[in-house]
Amino acid sequence: MGKQRLYLATQNQHKIEEIKDLLGDLFDIHTVFELGVQIELPETGSSLQENSHQKASYIASRFSVTCLSDDSGLEVHALGGAPGVYSARYAGEPKDDAANVRKLIAELDGILDRSARFVTVLTFHHEGQYFSFEGEVQGDIVSIPRGDHGFGYDPVFQPAGYDRTFAEMTMVEKNQLAHRGRAMLKFKSFIDEAAFFSDK
Ligand code: IMP
Repeated sequence: MGKQRLYLATQNQHKIEEIKDLLGDLFDIHTVFELGVQIELPETGSSLQENSHQKASYIASRFSVTCLSDDSGLEVHALGGAPGVYSARYAGEPKDDAANVRKLIAELDGILDRSARFVTVLTFHHEGQYFSFEGEVQGDIVSIPRGDHGFGYDPVFQPAGYDRTFAEMTMVEKNQLAHRGRAMLKFKSFIDEAAFFSDK
């Protein structure tokens, strides 16, 4: 049996690379660009869960394909969970990773509690059914960005127990301990345990 075709309901090239590394052995992975989707997928909800579902159902309802969406965010304890669902646009429009990082560092200036977590909510759609999977990683926000791998807040996020930021790790190293990788483990266990595609 060939691999199940899976469309990624995300337009973030970095996420696509990470997800291919995490799932490429199991699925025949395609992107929504191949479906001709040019506009930005909607994410107007007030939680990561809502936005994740919104992105998957946008693709599922139009193309009836098996797909997987990813909505993620950074929650900083001293900022009451901000930027959270607004992580991508923390410093305003248009989305700008470097400006977001600068704003975060400025907001935390002089604050001792640097604790934060990254969260990912995946939504998997197959033949009208939706399933969601969550992953998180705890860490601290460093005051000077380090490293040039990854994207978003990676240069200022240092996972607990490590002395390097995500941007100082290779993608494979990051995937082994990060929020997205952890959510993917749950998704992969679900597919295995439910023998989801075995009789298809
Ligand atoms: P989304 O595309 O709505 O899920 O926005 C996620 C935003 O959160 C991104 O634009 C990044 O700023 C941030 N983010 C999500 N995942 C990561 C990650 O793995 N590393 C760094 N930043 C991330």
